[in-house]
Amino acid sequence: MDPRWTALLDAARAAHEATPELRAFCPFPTELREQPGDPRPDPLSVTLQEAPGATTSPWQGFRDAASAAGPIARWRDTYRHTAIGEELHRHFGCFELLGQDAPFGAKDMRGFLVYQRPGYHYPPHHHPAEELYLVIAGEAEFHLDGHAPRRLGPGESVFHPSGVPHALTTHESPVLTWVLWRGEMETRPVFSPAFSDQQASPR
Ligand SMILES: [Fe+2]
Repeated sequence: MDPRWTALLDAARAAHEATPELRAFCPFPTELREQPGDPRPDPLSVTLQEAPGATTSPWQGFRDAASAAGPIARWRDTYRHTAIGEELHRHFGCFELLGQDAPFGAKDMRGFLVYQRPGYHYPPHHHPAEELYLVIAGEAEFHLDGHAPRRLGPGESVFHPSGVPHALTTHESPVLTWVLWRGEMETRPVFSPAFSDQQASPR
């Protein structure tokens, strides 16, 4: 196994143990199959290395391990086929660390690194999986249908219930996040028609 994956796994585990919201969401998996797979390169791996986002000291190791793994990661192309896919994937990227087909195979949860460049609005989307976002570096505004937007920085987290539309807006800073899924994890995210709540519209 490439030591960059092992270092990222160790950083994710350390963050899990140090963060009550993560521990409450799911246990950190203990039975992990190593299945590195082929990388799917993305220019965002370079962007992530050059501008990973500012962080506070507890999160620097996780940020740097995520940045180091970017060039060997299998970046996802979830929205590439959609009308805004090319534009979205120039600003937003995601790769998996833990999960059924991830570098470390896990059955009951999935864990992703998500990076978004400054000044982009990732539109409302939803999925059956329950989701927890933890900001590792930088900051972003998190929108959840029915709630006021929340601007979160390193160490802060937000929970997205199953099927509830949510969105992500970056302003002057990029954001790097660690995202956990549980529940029904096979269905990919799809764009939501719109938020029902006016206050959650993008700026
Ligand atoms: Fe989501």
